[in-house]
Amino acid sequence: MTKDRRNRAWYGKLDKDGFIHRSWMKNQGFPDHAFDGRPVIGICNTWSELTPCNSGLRDLAEGVKRGVWEAGGFPVEFPVMSLGETQMKPTAMLFRNLLAMDVEESIRAYGIDGVVLLGGCDKTTPGQLMGAASVDLPSIVVSSGPMLNGKWQGNDIGSGTDVWKFSEAVRAGDMTLKDFMAAESGMSRSKGVCMTMGTASTMASLVEAMGLSLPTNAALPAVDSRRMALAHLTGNRIVEMVDENLKPSDIITRASLENAILANAAVGGSTNAVVHLLAIAGRVGIDLKLEDFDLGGDVPLLVNCMPSGKYLMEDFCYAGGMPVILKELSGHLRKAKTVLGGDISAYADGAECWNRDVIYPIDDPLKPSAGIKVLKGNLAPRGAIVKPSAASEHLLEHEGEAYVFENIEELKATIDNDDLPVTKDSILVLKGCGPKGYPGMAEVGNMPIPSKLVKEGIKDMVRISDARMSGTAFGTVILHVTPEANEGGMLALVKTGDRIKFSASQGKLELLVSEEELAERRDAWQPEPPHYTRGYAKMYVDHVLQADQGADLDFLVGNDTRPVTRESH
Ligand code: FES
Ligand code: MG
Repeated sequence: MTKDRRNRAWYGKLDKDGFIHRSWMKNQGFPDHAFDGRPVIGICNTWSELTPCNSGLRDLAEGVKRGVWEAGGFPVEFPVMSLGETQMKPTAMLFRNLLAMDVEESIRAYGIDGVVLLGGCDKTTPGQLMGAASVDLPSIVVSSGPMLNGKWQGNDIGSGTDVWKFSEAVRAGDMTLKDFMAAESGMSRSKGVCMTMGTASTMASLVEAMGLSLPTNAALPAVDSRRMALAHLTGNRIVEMVDENLKPSDIITRASLENAILANAAVGGSTNAVVHLLAIAGRVGIDLKLEDFDLGGDVPLLVNCMPSGKYLMEDFCYAGGMPVILKELSGHLRKAKTVLGGDISAYADGAECWNRDVIYPIDDPLKPSAGIKVLKGNLAPRGAIVKPSAASEHLLEHEGEAYVFENIEELKATIDNDDLPVTKDSILVLKGCGPKGYPGMAEVGNMPIPSKLVKEGIKDMVRISDARMSGTAFGTVILHVTPEANEGGMLALVKTGDRIKFSASQGKLELLVSEEELAERRDAWQPEPPHYTRGYAKMYVDHVLQADQGADLDFLVGNDTRPVTRESH
C-alpha cells in the first residue's frame, strides 16, 4: 500500500488522533484492514426524496461500493445538499453554489483520496463538479440516468417540454383540465431525470463528452441494469485513478470545455449549460468566455430529442447514445484526457448508430447550425444568449415593440388579460429575474404567450429577460441578458413601446432608443430593495457574479488544494 496517500493523515496515525479517526468509523463494522492504507473513496451522494430525479442514487451507490471494494479500495458514502429542480423555491439555481460549497468542504475535511460524484437533477451535476474541481482530488461522475419515456394516451410524452405544451393547450381551450391532470402520472413513470434533452441530460452528455464519466453514462435509463453495472465499473476505476493521481484539473481543460460546447450543439443541449460550464471553468482557472460558445455554431444538430426534436433519452440510448455523437464529432473534437487516462476519442471506439432518425450523421444533420448563439448590443453589453434549434425560424431576425413586465408578479397577474396591448410582433420583456434579482436566476425566461394571442393560435413570440429557461423549454427566447436589470443593466431602462431589434445571424440585440433618452432614464432609475436581508440568500446576492461569469460566488472562483494540517482534537 502506498504510504503517502491523503487518507494516512487521518487513518495512518498511531497516536490519539489516529485512534479517534479509526475508532469511531469502526462503529459501522469496518474491519482493521479498511484502514491499512488502501484508497478511501468518498461517494458524494445527492440522493433525496425531495429530488425525485436523484431517487435512484441510493441504489447506484451500492453498485459503486461493490466496485470500490473489488478493486481494493474502501468506499464511504456521504450525503450532500440535494437540489430538486421541480421542488425548490424560488429556484434550485439559488442553491447550486451552496451545494458546491458543501461538496468542496466535505471532500476537503474528510480523509478521502478520491470521489465518486452521484448527481443527476439539473443543478446537482454542475454543483458537484464545481466543488470537486476546487479541491482537485481524483473524481468521477455517475449520473442518475433519464426516466423511461413518458407515455400517455398511446403517445410518448417528454418531461417539461410537454408540460409547457399541455399548459398552453389548456389556456387555448384545446385540452381539458381532466386530461391535463391525467398526463401527470404518465409523464414521470420511473426513477431518473427528465427524459428530454433538458438540463440534466445535457449536463450528463457534456460530462461524458468531457471524459468525466465512463462512456455511456449520459443516456442509459436510470432503471436499466446496465447503469448499475456502470456504477460498479466506476467504483473499480476511481481506485485506479487515485493510484494514477488523475485529477479534475487534468480533465477539465480548455480543450475538454470546448468539446463540451461542441457536444452541446450536437445534442441540442440546454442553455443552462452556458452558466454551468462558465462556472466550472472558473474553478479550474480557465478563462472561458461567453463568446467561446459561438464555437458551437460550427456543429449541426444531430440528436432528434425534445425540445429541439421529437424523441426522448431512452430512444437516444438505444440509438447508441453519446459514443455515437463523439464518433460523429471526431473531426471537431480537441484532444483531451479522460477519467480513463487516454484521449476522448477512445469513447467513440466501436460506436455504431442503430437509428438514424434519432441520431443524424454529421454530413446530413437534422438542422444545419444549432448551438447557442451569443448576442451583444446596447441591450446586453456583456451578452445574452438564444438557442436557435429550439426557436422559430421566422422570429430569428425580428424588430418589434417592447411590452415590459417589471417583475414576475406583474407578468403572472396580467399575462392573461384580454386587453393586454400586445400583438404577435410585440417583444415581451421581463425584468428582475437575474442572479441578484430573483434571486437565483430562475427558469422563467420562457414567458407564457399572452392568452389572447394563444387563442389566435400564436405559439411563439420573441421574449427577452435576464432569466434562464428550463432546458426542456423552447421558443424564440433571449436569455441571460447581462448585466441584469437589478444590477442596473440596460434591461432595467426598457419601457413599453420601445423598439428592439434582434438578429440571431448577426448576434445583435439592440434597444432603439436615443442616448439622451436613456441617460435620462438612467438618472431616474432606482434599484429594487433586496428580497432577502439575512442568511445564505443575502450572502448569495452580495457575492453572485453575473451570468456571463457563470453566476458563481465571487469568493468561490478558483481552487485551494492545500492539505488541511490542523487536527480536530
Ligand atoms: Fe430534475 Fe428535470 S427536474 S432532472
Ligand atoms: Mg430546470
